Amino acid sequence: MHYRCRKNQALLTAAEKSRFVNAVLALKANGVYNTFVQNHINAMTSAHRGSAFLPWHREFLNRFELELRKIDAQVTLPYWDWTVDNSGASSIWNADFMGGNGRPADGVVTTGPFAFSTGNWPLAFDGPRLRRQFGVSIGSLPTPADVANAMAESVYDVAPWNASASSGFRNRLEGWINGPQLHNRAHVWVGGSMLPMSSPNDPVFFLHHCFIDKLWADWQRTHPGVAYPAVGPAVGHRLNDPMSPFSKPGAPVRPADTLDHHAMGYAYDTEGLCFHIPKLKFIDDGGKLKFKDDQPKLKFKDDKLKFTDDPQQSLKFRDDVKLPALDQGKLPAFDQVNDPLGNVSNPGVLRGVSTGVAPFVLSTPHHSNAWVGASQQAQVQQLEQAMNEIAAILQQAQQAQQAQGPLGEAQQAQLQNLDQQLQSLDLEWRKLQGLA
Ligand code: CU
Ligand code: CU
Repeated sequence: MHYRCRKNQALLTAAEKSRFVNAVLALKANGVYNTFVQNHINAMTSAHRGSAFLPWHREFLNRFELELRKIDAQVTLPYWDWTVDNSGASSIWNADFMGGNGRPADGVVTTGPFAFSTGNWPLAFDGPRLRRQFGVSIGSLPTPADVANAMAESVYDVAPWNASASSGFRNRLEGWINGPQLHNRAHVWVGGSMLPMSSPNDPVFFLHHCFIDKLWADWQRTHPGVAYPAVGPAVGHRLNDPMSPFSKPGAPVRPADTLDHHAMGYAYDTEGLCFHIPKLKFIDDGGKLKFKDDQPKLKFKDDKLKFTDDPQQSLKFRDDVKLPALDQGKLPAFDQVNDPLGNVSNPGVLRGVSTGVAPFVLSTPHHSNAWVGASQQAQVQQLEQAMNEIAAILQQAQQAQQAQGPLGEAQQAQLQNLDQQLQSLDLEWRKLQGLA
């Protein structure tokens, strides 16, 4: 299974941001975007203040993501981790992505691709101008401790199964307990167009709810076997109730159909599943796998699998593939991070000591036809191995970031570059198997 990979928006490359923005603008232009806003407006009681809050929004986001991918098949929904990117200065609000806060007088957003002044983003409901008022209605975004409190809930939902439930993961995460907290709090902090039921008017709605969905997926993984209520909640919120407007005769969509997000085709970047990595092992048949344009010297051999020293500390492409993580002394100076996955990382991969920028250069073939002299299966394995290496580094970097705060700019740039290369390896991987 090759999952659509939903990533932390802070780790997107400039190109990924622009593809996402362009796909959203295309859905606005063709009218599809506004149908999502309308469907959310209609879903006050069926999608909120009740058990189906998480299933309904999971289905809603999934459909939105599939629409984006009709525009651009490489786009996936990014998530906004507001426990980390928790101020108006966070890069999510830059003009190349979501655009910034509204102007003080009336909250009208004047920067970025969704400003009314661009002519591309008239609101059909609660409009016509997109508005934001960061921190005006409530001063701060939810914290890691708030998330931890929700994660500690041992049941999904409790009676009376609505906004009054005094415990349970759903109402804790939806944010009605001592509210506004978590989900509700982020809506309130952004303010403006994010306050009413037409809140999908602001594209950041989808990044916010993507994080809510990720937290649900995280909670599900850490609470295996905890049941979703089949009786108790109001009609429309029980395990096997059809969810409006998604459910159709003969094609029911019930909370039961949303409990496994992998079955819906996507995974989150922290799950170690995004890049279909069956195993981590190094191929010892040095010399067999060669590149076309590498006459004698560019071949895969154990002694070539390492970082290349780059005195300019610039990230460059080469014609051979270098696998990172084998030359630990040249890795960036993340502190030791325990590997929660236990199976994909190279222990110690990020423990290296570094002076400033680590010259980690991972190069990619220009095209799959650059590979010669090896079977397709071997090429696929080689690609998977390289992707595994990068994915492990990205995951550990993300954990380092969560544990220790933002990484330096240089490290961020390196990670972005690695991520970009991961995308191109992934594309090769899909091409080789006729998936792209
Ligand atoms: Cu909602
Ligand atoms: Cu919401």
